Amino acid sequence: MHHLIRRAARTVALLCFIATTPAHADGTLKLEAPKPNVAPTPPMGWNSWNKFACNVSEKLIREQADAMVASGMKDAGYQYLVIDDCWQKSRDADGNIQADPERFPSGMKALADYVHAKGLKFGLYSDAGSLTCEGRPGSAGHEFQDARQYAKWGVDYLKYDWCNTGTRNAEAAYTIIAKALRASGRDIVLSICEWGTDHPERWGPTVGHLWRTTHDIYDGWESTKDKGNGMTNVLDMQAARGGVSAPNAWNDPDMLEVGNGGMTTTEYESHFSLWAMLAAPLIAGNDLSKMDADTVRILTNKDVIAVDQDPLGLQGRRALKEGDLEVWVRPLAGGEHAVVLFNRGKTPADMKLNWDLLGLPANQKADVKDLWSKKVTKGVSGSYGGKVAPHGVIMVRIKAAP
Ligand code: GLA
Repeated sequence: MHHLIRRAARTVALLCFIATTPAHADGTLKLEAPKPNVAPTPPMGWNSWNKFACNVSEKLIREQADAMVASGMKDAGYQYLVIDDCWQKSRDADGNIQADPERFPSGMKALADYVHAKGLKFGLYSDAGSLTCEGRPGSAGHEFQDARQYAKWGVDYLKYDWCNTGTRNAEAAYTIIAKALRASGRDIVLSICEWGTDHPERWGPTVGHLWRTTHDIYDGWESTKDKGNGMTNVLDMQAARGGVSAPNAWNDPDMLEVGNGGMTTTEYESHFSLWAMLAAPLIAGNDLSKMDADTVRILTNKDVIAVDQDPLGLQGRRALKEGDLEVWVRPLAGGEHAVVLFNRGKTPADMKLNWDLLGLPANQKADVKDLWSKKVTKGVSGSYGGKVAPHGVIMVRIKAAP
């Protein structure tokens, strides 16, 4: 008798387990709650890593929030302030994640409140492994607890890294944190950061809002042996990954380096223009409280930002390449096009776009706006071009006449 009751209880427990644990034959966990609609266009904001690395504090984040408003960045559309690695120090006896008390003495809730009071949004970083890339506590085994904590603090955006994950399966690991965030009671953007290693373009659109496609960018034109991927290397890796981006699901070729000093003003204009063509998240990575006029001019160029934020959400493609000269084309809502003529060479080049690359007949008249000089040319037919500076771009928006 006793034995039968025990067996029945075991059967009930097993049925409950099957009913509540959606494990599938492929070992992954499926998501039931829908992905919140919080990134209909590529997220725009600021992240501490590129400039400050581990040197983060509540003082720094407050300064950057103030500067985001005062510099016009907020008016241009930037909204997220994301603290990258090193804000976390330890877990308490109950496993709750603790911010570094020396660097964040007022705590994360107070900091999130400060950011929200400025009309901005607040983001944090964690990692799918036991430890983050900088050896701070990761979220493995604490996903639901951490997500609940983030929601309590008022977190709007989570960047989730991939260091120290051993043999974990990326899709399964990111699905757990996605489930945890969706169960947290707060709409939170999930920024997947597994460097494009396990085909995030296949599962990222279901699981998160954006996914890194490459290893880290560094503030330079092209790669050097010790530093990794320069801006043009990231661009080339990204060029092969078109066709996936869509509202709420963006390829992420890593954060911006504009204003960090390792490239020329012309190169930063190219970087910003090309990231906009890629429908990339525009996450500034410089010190917003110390920007020169060119940095502000580039980061707040509303015409270029409008291309990035185009509601159609299609990623641009490299339509033509002849040696150092490239033509990039991005279809925009309403039948318009954005075009970048990109000169990767060391000398100025005469470049032109022929209408056939846009699928337009040669005699089609169009209005062309240069998005950097702001010059508008009406009634252009057949082609458009000009002299492009070394490492520079001409970026235009083309609207065919009705
Ligand atoms: C990885 C990420 C970077 C940054 C660092 C932090 O390298 O790709 O963007 O978050 O970790 O340690």
